[in-house]
Amino acid sequence: MTTKIKQIIVTGGFGFIGSHLIDRLLGQGHQVTVVDDLRSAAVAPSDYATYMATGQLVWLSMDVQYLRPIHVSCPCPDEIYHLASPVGPAGVLKHAGEIVRQIVDSTYAVIDMALRCDSRLVDVSTSEVYGGGQQGLCAEAMPRIIQADTTVRLEYAVAKLAMETALINATQVQPLQAVIVRPFNVAGPRQGAVGGFVLPRFIQQAMRGEALTVFGDGNQVRAFTHVADIVDGLLLAMEKGRSGQVYNLGNPANRTTILDLAKAVIEETGSIGGVQYVNGQSIYGSLYAEAHDKYPDAAKAMKHLGWQPVHDLHEIVADVHHAMQSTLQSEAV
Ligand SMILES: NC(=O)c1ccc[n+]([C@@H]2O[C@H](COP(=O)([O-])OP(=O)(O)OC[C@H]3O[C@@H](n4cnc5c(N)ncnc54)[C@H](O)[C@@H]3O)[C@@H](O)[C@H]2O)c1
Repeated sequence: MTTKIKQIIVTGGFGFIGSHLIDRLLGQGHQVTVVDDLRSAAVAPSDYATYMATGQLVWLSMDVQYLRPIHVSCPCPDEIYHLASPVGPAGVLKHAGEIVRQIVDSTYAVIDMALRCDSRLVDVSTSEVYGGGQQGLCAEAMPRIIQADTTVRLEYAVAKLAMETALINATQVQPLQAVIVRPFNVAGPRQGAVGGFVLPRFIQQAMRGEALTVFGDGNQVRAFTHVADIVDGLLLAMEKGRSGQVYNLGNPANRTTILDLAKAVIEETGSIGGVQYVNGQSIYGSLYAEAHDKYPDAAKAMKHLGWQPVHDLHEIVADVHHAMQSTLQSEAV
């Protein structure tokens, strides 16, 4: 059976999740246009020189908010994956006060493109829209919870939620085909520690023989999902997702406390640095905030999309460790 070759736009395609997504799409033979100004890229465009030389990959180095017919001429895509956004508990802090504008303007740009081109759109939102869920559990049918404190984290969450709401309503009254996904704690090769992501930070500390800095008492609950499983979910959402619907993408089987994650990292790396309990704000500053517990109910994506995450927590930890080891080795050469 031959696969139909599609024209696909991926905003944020050189980021952590986006780069794994474009690897998959390019491997399937599709024509991919990446819109990314590299502000938090995880890969270098030069890594894709071969694809760019053949024209299978086109890179538009620009802010997504300008992705309008008046500013850019690119072939009308069959599909658009929208990933470009500020991200990460620490990564969002430097965009305080500008996050709403960035998320709203870029998402309206892709909505306009999708409407003009009759493209199918997958918008990548976030589990942060749940606040802390119900004692940490987050399902699509549950209320989204807006905390009393106005934090940078809240600005990120409400901007994503505002665009989810606009998208869902637009699908009711306009010929827009749009599906929303909410990833939970994605992890895997190429994720940097700089955005405040806990797993690469722990591995980096372990590889340096330093203590793993656990925030608070380490009893915060999360469920980590391998980036390869998230890519499966994005592709399935594009293929089978119902327009105007939202799907959680998080692996409930990988529930862990942060302290147990630290122990898994110590076991994987053989680190002798131990664990040190600290306040997250002492590392990232007074604007830093995070949910206490947050983990997914993913039954809807499993039932309606046929999504089945397969990578367990130990594989995730091992994959991130091996990737960071090979980066270190290649830098040393
Ligand atoms: N990483 C996670 O655990 C996680 C969890 C939930 C949701 N998400 C969502 O997934 C998406 C991708 O996250 P990621 O971890 O791959 O982030 P990332 O920072 O690694 O990738 C984002 C990419 O988008 C680019 N970018 C950002 N804003 C841009 C703009 N306005 N114009 C052009 N390029 C821009 C960056 O240069 C980067 O390459 C985001 O929408 C994020 O909100 C991520």
